[in-house]
Amino acid sequence: MRPALVLFALALALASCGYETIDEATCPPGGTKLTYANFGEQFFVGYCDECHSAETSLRKGAPENYVFASRADIVQHKDRIFARSAGSNDSMPPGPDDPPIDERNKLAEWLVCGAP
Ligand code: HEC
Repeated sequence: MRPALVLFALALALASCGYETIDEATCPPGGTKLTYANFGEQFFVGYCDECHSAETSLRKGAPENYVFASRADIVQHKDRIFARSAGSNDSMPPGPDDPPIDERNKLAEWLVCGAP
């Protein structure tokens, strides 16, 4: 292969690792072992519900219709949650204390597998 082709192939391979939207991600063939009970609930309580819980009066500007207090809430908003927080997307939570990348990769897998 000519060097330009090698570079092109490399760029394609790199680009295919990342995904920005839930439509670009795929559930692994064997499904996921992640569930709301063993992953989702802790993730949202730990990283999101300071501003997106049903109870808090101090929502710090988070829109009132974006409450992530149950699995059903999360399923309803899964496309936007994915776009803000899953995988390489890190615009939520706001500020420097992002969940680690492996947690955000787990979020991507769990959401794209239907958030069981
Ligand atoms: C410190 C408070 C805070 C935390 C923590 C937080 N958010 Fe938000 N969120 C906001 C604010 C403020 C907005 C409205 C402004 C905006 O959209 O950037 C918002 C809006 C949103 C929206 C709706 C806007 C859209 O893009 O559709 C989604 C979805 C969202 N957040 C997801 C999350 C997720 C998932 C987490 C946890 C990983 C999280 N947020 C953690 C404050 C927070």
